[in-house]
Amino acid sequence: MLRSAVTGVGGYLPEQIVTNDDLAKFVDTSDAWIRERTGIRQRHKAAEDQPVSDLAVAAAKRALAAAGRTVDEVDMIVVATTTPDLTFPSVAAIVQRKLGCPVGIAFDVQAVCSGFVYALSVADGFVARNRSQCALVIGAETMTRLMDWTDRGTCVLFGDGAGAVVVEPVEGEGTTADRGLLGFALRADGAKQDLLYVDGGVSTNGQIGHLRMQGNQVFRHAVVNISEAVVAAAADAGVNVADVDWFIPHQANQRILEGVAKRLGIDSAKVISTVAKHANTSAASIPLALYEGISDGRIKPGQLLLMEAMGGGLTWGACVVRL
Ligand code: UT7
Repeated sequence: MLRSAVTGVGGYLPEQIVTNDDLAKFVDTSDAWIRERTGIRQRHKAAEDQPVSDLAVAAAKRALAAAGRTVDEVDMIVVATTTPDLTFPSVAAIVQRKLGCPVGIAFDVQAVCSGFVYALSVADGFVARNRSQCALVIGAETMTRLMDWTDRGTCVLFGDGAGAVVVEPVEGEGTTADRGLLGFALRADGAKQDLLYVDGGVSTNGQIGHLRMQGNQVFRHAVVNISEAVVAAAADAGVNVADVDWFIPHQANQRILEGVAKRLGIDSAKVISTVAKHANTSAASIPLALYEGISDGRIKPGQLLLMEAMGGGLTWGACVVRL
Protein backbone atom coordinates (compact mmCIF):
# COMPACT_ATOMS: atom_id res chain seq x y z
CA MET A 1 0.00 0.00 0.00
CA LEU A 2 1.03 3.58 -0.57
CA ARG A 3 2.10 5.49 2.53
CA SER A 4 3.10 9.14 3.06
CA ALA A 5 6.58 9.36 4.52
CA VAL A 6 8.49 12.24 6.07
CA THR A 7 11.73 12.31 4.06
CA GLY A 8 13.29 15.58 5.23
CA VAL A 9 12.95 18.03 8.12
CA GLY A 10 14.04 21.66 8.49
CA GLY A 11 13.63 24.48 10.95
CA TYR A 12 14.35 28.17 11.22
CA LEU A 13 14.36 30.63 14.11
CA PRO A 14 14.75 34.36 13.46
CA GLU A 15 17.96 36.02 14.60
CA GLN A 16 16.69 38.25 17.40
CA ILE A 17 16.49 36.57 20.81
CA VAL A 18 14.30 38.07 23.55
CA THR A 19 15.14 36.81 27.03
CA ASN A 20 12.85 36.72 30.05
CA ASP A 21 14.91 39.53 31.57
CA ASP A 22 14.30 41.62 28.43
CA LEU A 23 10.54 41.25 28.98
CA ALA A 24 10.81 42.02 32.70
CA LYS A 25 12.06 45.50 31.74
CA PHE A 26 8.60 46.54 30.52
CA VAL A 27 6.04 44.09 31.94
CA ASP A 28 5.55 43.00 35.57
CA THR A 29 7.18 39.58 35.40
CA SER A 30 10.47 37.86 36.24
CA ASP A 31 12.82 35.30 34.77
CA ALA A 32 12.19 33.12 37.83
CA TRP A 33 8.38 33.14 37.39
CA ILE A 34 8.53 32.39 33.67
CA ARG A 35 11.05 29.55 34.07
CA GLU A 36 9.23 27.97 36.98
CA ARG A 37 5.70 28.14 35.49
CA THR A 38 6.56 27.46 31.84
CA GLY A 39 10.17 26.29 31.39
CA ILE A 40 10.69 29.12 28.87
CA ARG A 41 14.07 30.90 28.93
CA GLN A 42 13.89 32.88 25.70
CA ARG A 43 11.97 33.34 22.47
CA HIS A 44 12.93 34.51 18.96
CA LYS A 45 11.35 37.51 17.31
CA ALA A 46 11.07 38.06 13.56
CA ALA A 47 12.48 41.33 12.24
CA GLU A 48 9.91 43.97 11.30
CA ASP A 49 10.54 43.43 7.59
CA GLN A 50 10.46 39.63 7.92
CA PRO A 51 7.00 38.22 7.15
CA VAL A 52 6.07 34.70 8.16
CA SER A 53 6.61 33.46 4.58
CA ASP A 54 10.33 34.29 4.92
CA LEU A 55 10.54 32.07 8.00
CA ALA A 56 8.65 29.33 6.14
CA VAL A 57 10.95 29.56 3.11
CA ALA A 58 14.09 29.25 5.29
CA ALA A 59 12.72 26.13 7.03
CA ALA A 60 11.49 24.66 3.71
CA LYS A 61 14.92 25.02 2.07
CA ARG A 62 16.51 23.04 4.90
CA ALA A 63 13.81 20.35 4.71
CA LEU A 64 14.24 20.01 0.93
CA ALA A 65 18.02 19.74 1.29
CA ALA A 66 17.61 17.04 3.95
CA ALA A 67 15.24 15.12 1.67
CA GLY A 68 17.56 15.51 -1.32
CA ARG A 69 14.77 17.23 -3.27
CA THR A 70 14.81 20.42 -5.32
CA VAL A 71 12.21 23.18 -5.54
CA ASP A 72 11.34 21.97 -9.08
CA GLU A 73 10.02 18.73 -7.62
CA VAL A 74 7.61 20.30 -5.11
CA ASP A 75 4.03 19.83 -6.34
CA MET A 76 2.17 20.73 -3.13
CA ILE A 77 2.70 23.21 -0.29
CA VAL A 78 0.55 23.26 2.83
CA VAL A 79 1.32 25.90 5.42
CA ALA A 80 -0.13 25.74 8.91
CA THR A 81 -0.24 29.28 10.22
CA THR A 82 -2.43 31.68 12.13
CA THR A 83 -0.26 34.72 11.37
CA PRO A 84 -0.25 35.05 7.54
CA ASP A 85 1.65 37.75 5.62
CA LEU A 86 -1.62 38.93 4.04
CA THR A 87 -5.30 38.06 4.27
CA PHE A 88 -4.74 36.52 0.85
CA PRO A 89 -3.02 34.97 -1.04
CA SER A 90 -2.16 32.13 1.27
CA VAL A 91 1.28 31.91 2.81
CA ALA A 92 1.65 28.63 0.89
CA ALA A 93 1.21 30.43 -2.45
CA ILE A 94 3.71 33.11 -1.37
CA VAL A 95 6.19 30.41 -0.35
CA GLN A 96 5.67 28.73 -3.72
CA ARG A 97 6.55 32.01 -5.47
CA LYS A 98 9.55 32.75 -3.23
CA LEU A 99 10.99 29.25 -3.59
CA GLY A 100 10.34 29.25 -7.34
CA CYS A 101 8.33 26.03 -7.34
CA PRO A 102 6.34 25.09 -10.45
CA VAL A 103 2.54 25.39 -10.67
CA GLY A 104 1.00 22.96 -8.18
CA ILE A 105 -1.23 22.84 -5.12
CA ALA A 106 -0.80 25.49 -2.40
CA PHE A 107 -3.03 26.45 0.52
CA ASP A 108 -2.99 27.23 4.24
CA VAL A 109 -4.47 25.32 7.16
CA GLN A 110 -5.73 27.29 10.16
CA ALA A 111 -5.89 25.23 13.32
CA VAL A 112 -3.62 27.48 15.42
CA CYS A 113 -1.21 25.49 17.61
CA SER A 114 -2.63 22.18 16.31
CA GLY A 115 -2.09 23.36 12.73
CA PHE A 116 0.92 21.21 11.96
CA VAL A 117 -0.82 17.97 12.95
CA TYR A 118 -3.91 19.00 10.95
CA ALA A 119 -1.74 19.96 7.94
CA LEU A 120 0.15 16.66 8.03
CA SER A 121 -3.16 14.81 7.98
CA VAL A 122 -4.35 16.89 5.01
CA ALA A 123 -1.11 16.23 3.13
CA ASP A 124 -1.47 12.51 3.86
CA GLY A 125 -4.81 12.66 2.04
CA PHE A 126 -3.02 13.78 -1.13
CA VAL A 127 0.29 11.92 -0.94
CA ALA A 128 -1.04 8.48 0.04
CA ARG A 129 -3.53 8.75 -2.86
CA ASN A 130 -0.74 9.48 -5.32
CA ARG A 131 -1.98 13.05 -5.86
CA SER A 132 1.31 14.56 -4.76
CA GLN A 133 4.81 13.19 -5.25
CA CYS A 134 6.63 15.79 -3.18
CA ALA A 135 4.74 17.85 -0.62
CA LEU A 136 6.08 20.53 1.69
CA VAL A 137 4.21 20.74 4.99
CA ILE A 138 5.24 23.82 6.94
CA GLY A 139 4.30 25.22 10.33
CA ALA A 140 5.24 28.91 10.43
CA GLU A 141 4.27 31.66 12.83
CA THR A 142 5.02 35.22 13.87
CA MET A 143 3.08 35.00 17.13
CA THR A 144 4.87 38.04 18.58
CA ARG A 145 2.79 40.16 16.15
CA LEU A 146 -0.38 39.09 18.04
CA MET A 147 0.83 39.95 21.52
CA ASP A 148 -0.60 42.54 23.85
CA TRP A 149 2.72 43.55 25.40
CA THR A 150 0.94 44.86 28.52
CA ASP A 151 -0.58 41.42 29.28
CA ARG A 152 1.97 39.44 31.26
CA GLY A 153 -0.31 36.38 31.23
CA THR A 154 0.28 35.92 27.47
CA CYS A 155 3.16 38.03 26.10
CA VAL A 156 5.85 35.99 27.87
CA LEU A 157 4.63 32.71 26.38
CA PHE A 158 4.99 33.03 22.61
CA GLY A 159 7.70 33.34 19.98
CA ASP A 160 8.33 33.24 16.22
CA GLY A 161 9.71 30.42 14.08
CA ALA A 162 9.08 27.88 11.36
CA GLY A 163 9.51 24.17 10.82
CA ALA A 164 9.00 22.16 7.65
CA VAL A 165 8.86 18.57 6.47
CA VAL A 166 8.94 17.00 3.02
CA VAL A 167 6.30 14.30 2.59
CA GLU A 168 6.62 11.76 -0.23
CA PRO A 169 4.80 8.55 -1.21
CA VAL A 170 6.53 5.27 -0.30
CA GLU A 171 5.42 1.67 -0.76
CA GLY A 172 4.51 -0.06 2.50
CA GLU A 173 3.28 -3.49 3.57
CA GLY A 174 0.33 -2.13 5.50
CA THR A 175 1.97 -3.01 8.83
CA THR A 176 3.16 -0.89 11.76
CA ALA A 177 6.74 -1.52 10.59
CA ASP A 178 6.02 0.66 7.53
CA ARG A 179 7.69 3.99 7.20
CA GLY A 180 5.18 6.85 7.07
CA LEU A 181 2.27 8.68 8.69
CA LEU A 182 0.60 5.74 10.43
CA GLY A 183 -2.21 7.20 12.50
CA PHE A 184 -4.05 10.40 13.39
CA ALA A 185 -6.62 11.75 15.83
CA LEU A 186 -7.89 15.29 15.20
CA ARG A 187 -10.31 17.13 17.49
CA ALA A 188 -12.02 20.53 17.81
CA ASP A 189 -14.44 21.96 20.34
CA GLY A 190 -15.60 25.36 19.10
CA ALA A 191 -17.72 25.85 22.22
CA LYS A 192 -14.48 26.62 24.09
CA GLN A 193 -13.51 29.56 21.86
CA ASP A 194 -13.44 32.02 24.77
CA LEU A 195 -10.53 30.23 26.43
CA LEU A 196 -8.09 31.16 23.65
CA TYR A 197 -8.73 33.52 20.74
CA VAL A 198 -7.63 36.71 18.98
CA ASP A 199 -9.91 39.71 19.47
CA GLY A 200 -9.68 40.97 15.89
CA GLY A 201 -10.23 39.84 12.34
CA VAL A 202 -11.09 40.76 8.77
CA SER A 203 -14.85 40.38 9.01
CA THR A 204 -15.39 41.55 12.59
CA ASN A 205 -13.46 44.75 13.32
CA GLY A 206 -10.92 44.82 10.50
CA GLN A 207 -8.08 44.72 13.02
CA ILE A 208 -5.26 42.21 13.52
CA GLY A 209 -6.23 41.95 17.19
CA HIS A 210 -4.42 40.54 20.19
CA LEU A 211 -4.21 37.03 21.58
CA ARG A 212 -6.45 36.50 24.64
CA MET A 213 -6.17 33.44 26.83
CA GLN A 214 -7.52 32.08 30.07
CA GLY A 215 -4.23 30.27 30.64
CA ASN A 216 -5.13 28.14 33.64
CA GLN A 217 -8.38 26.95 31.95
CA VAL A 218 -6.49 25.99 28.80
CA PHE A 219 -3.89 24.26 30.95
CA ARG A 220 -6.59 22.19 32.64
CA HIS A 221 -8.08 21.04 29.33
CA ALA A 222 -4.70 20.41 27.72
CA VAL A 223 -3.44 17.43 29.70
CA VAL A 224 -6.73 15.50 29.61
CA ASN A 225 -7.65 16.25 25.99
CA ILE A 226 -4.20 15.67 24.54
CA SER A 227 -3.85 12.35 26.33
CA GLU A 228 -7.14 11.09 24.87
CA ALA A 229 -6.07 12.10 21.35
CA VAL A 230 -2.67 10.44 21.75
CA VAL A 231 -4.28 7.15 22.75
CA ALA A 232 -6.68 7.44 19.79
CA ALA A 233 -3.87 8.18 17.31
CA ALA A 234 -1.88 5.21 18.60
CA ALA A 235 -4.96 3.00 18.17
CA ASP A 236 -5.47 4.38 14.65
CA ALA A 237 -1.86 3.45 13.84
CA GLY A 238 -2.20 0.04 15.52
CA VAL A 239 0.65 0.68 17.97
CA ASN A 240 0.94 1.02 21.72
CA VAL A 241 2.05 4.29 23.28
CA ALA A 242 4.78 2.25 25.01
CA ASP A 243 6.25 1.31 21.59
CA VAL A 244 7.01 4.92 20.75
CA ASP A 245 10.68 5.89 20.54
CA TRP A 246 10.18 9.66 20.78
CA PHE A 247 7.39 11.85 22.10
CA ILE A 248 7.40 15.21 20.28
CA PRO A 249 4.78 17.40 21.92
CA HIS A 250 3.64 20.90 21.05
CA GLN A 251 6.03 23.16 22.91
CA ALA A 252 3.72 25.43 24.94
CA ASN A 253 4.67 24.81 28.53
CA GLN A 254 7.15 22.36 30.09
CA ARG A 255 4.60 21.51 32.80
CA ILE A 256 1.98 20.56 30.18
CA LEU A 257 4.29 18.37 28.16
CA GLU A 258 5.55 16.64 31.31
CA GLY A 259 1.98 16.23 32.56
CA VAL A 260 0.87 14.56 29.32
CA ALA A 261 3.94 12.29 29.27
CA LYS A 262 3.32 11.27 32.89
CA ARG A 263 -0.37 10.57 32.31
CA LEU A 264 0.53 8.36 29.33
CA GLY A 265 3.36 6.60 31.17
CA ILE A 266 5.99 7.93 28.74
CA ASP A 267 9.52 8.02 30.16
CA SER A 268 10.79 11.62 30.36
CA ALA A 269 13.98 10.50 28.56
CA LYS A 270 11.83 9.96 25.44
CA VAL A 271 10.40 13.50 25.44
CA ILE A 272 11.83 16.11 23.06
CA SER A 273 11.56 19.51 24.73
CA THR A 274 12.64 22.74 23.07
CA VAL A 275 10.21 25.14 24.73
CA ALA A 276 13.04 26.70 26.78
CA LYS A 277 14.73 27.92 23.61
CA HIS A 278 11.85 29.31 21.56
CA ALA A 279 8.70 29.42 23.74
CA ASN A 280 5.34 28.62 22.11
CA THR A 281 5.69 29.01 18.33
CA SER A 282 2.18 27.63 17.72
CA ALA A 283 2.05 25.56 14.49
CA ALA A 284 5.85 25.70 14.15
CA SER A 285 6.65 24.08 17.47
CA ILE A 286 6.37 20.38 16.58
CA PRO A 287 8.50 20.53 13.40
CA LEU A 288 11.02 22.74 15.24
CA ALA A 289 11.32 20.14 18.01
CA LEU A 290 11.54 17.36 15.42
CA TYR A 291 14.28 19.28 13.59
CA GLU A 292 16.30 19.70 16.77
CA GLY A 293 15.92 16.02 17.72
CA ILE A 294 17.13 14.93 14.27
CA SER A 295 19.90 17.54 14.07
CA ASP A 296 21.42 16.51 17.41
CA GLY A 297 21.30 12.83 16.45
CA ARG A 298 18.72 11.63 18.97
CA ILE A 299 15.95 10.87 16.45
CA LYS A 300 16.97 8.32 13.83
CA PRO A 301 15.43 6.91 10.65
CA GLY A 302 13.05 4.03 11.32
CA GLN A 303 12.04 5.23 14.77
CA LEU A 304 8.44 5.61 15.88
CA LEU A 305 7.41 9.17 16.72
CA LEU A 306 4.37 10.47 18.53
CA MET A 307 3.40 14.11 18.02
CA GLU A 308 0.60 16.04 19.72
CA ALA A 309 -0.70 19.57 19.99
CA MET A 310 -3.47 21.72 21.38
CA GLY A 311 -4.47 25.30 20.66
CA GLY A 312 -7.10 27.90 19.84
CA GLY A 313 -10.47 26.65 18.71
CA LEU A 314 -10.07 24.78 20.89
CA THR A 315 -8.35 22.33 18.59
CA TRP A 316 -6.11 19.42 19.45
CA GLY A 317 -4.75 16.29 17.88
CA ALA A 318 -2.03 13.68 17.68
CA CYS A 319 -0.20 11.74 15.03
CA VAL A 320 2.03 8.65 14.88
CA VAL A 321 4.87 8.63 12.36
CA ARG A 322 7.57 6.11 11.54
CA LEU A 323 10.51 8.12 10.23
O1 UT7 B 1 -0.54 26.54 22.73
C1 UT7 B 1 -1.73 27.08 23.14
C2 UT7 B 1 -2.10 26.58 24.43
N1 UT7 B 1 -1.70 27.44 25.48
C3 UT7 B 1 -1.12 26.92 26.53
O2 UT7 B 1 -0.82 25.76 26.53
C4 UT7 B 1 -0.93 27.76 27.76
C5 UT7 B 1 -1.63 27.07 28.88
N2 UT7 B 1 -1.49 27.72 30.13
C6 UT7 B 1 -0.30 27.89 30.79
O3 UT7 B 1 0.75 27.55 30.28
C7 UT7 B 1 -0.34 28.44 32.19
O4 UT7 B 1 -1.66 28.48 32.63
C8 UT7 B 1 0.28 29.86 32.31
C9 UT7 B 1 1.78 29.77 32.14
C10 UT7 B 1 -0.31 30.79 31.27
C11 UT7 B 1 0.00 30.45 33.69
O5 UT7 B 1 0.46 29.58 34.70
P1 UT7 B 1 -0.48 29.23 35.93
O6 UT7 B 1 0.33 28.41 36.84
O7 UT7 B 1 -1.73 28.62 35.36
O8 UT7 B 1 -0.74 30.63 36.58
P2 UT7 B 1 -2.13 31.42 36.76
O9 UT7 B 1 -2.67 31.87 35.46
O10 UT7 B 1 -3.04 30.63 37.66
O11 UT7 B 1 -1.61 32.69 37.55
C12 UT7 B 1 -0.95 32.57 38.81
C13 UT7 B 1 -0.44 33.95 39.21
C14 UT7 B 1 -1.48 35.05 39.05
O12 UT7 B 1 -1.32 35.96 40.14
P3 UT7 B 1 -2.33 35.90 41.39
O13 UT7 B 1 -3.68 36.14 40.81
O14 UT7 B 1 -2.17 34.54 41.98
O15 UT7 B 1 -1.83 37.01 42.24
C15 UT7 B 1 -1.09 35.73 37.79
O16 UT7 B 1 -1.46 37.09 37.73
O17 UT7 B 1 0.66 34.33 38.36
C16 UT7 B 1 0.42 35.64 37.86
N3 UT7 B 1 1.06 35.74 36.56
C17 UT7 B 1 2.33 36.16 36.40
N4 UT7 B 1 3.26 36.55 37.29
C18 UT7 B 1 4.45 36.91 36.82
C19 UT7 B 1 0.55 35.45 35.33
N5 UT7 B 1 1.47 35.68 34.37
C20 UT7 B 1 2.58 36.13 35.03
C21 UT7 B 1 3.84 36.53 34.60
N6 UT7 B 1 4.75 36.90 35.52
N7 UT7 B 1 4.20 36.51 33.29
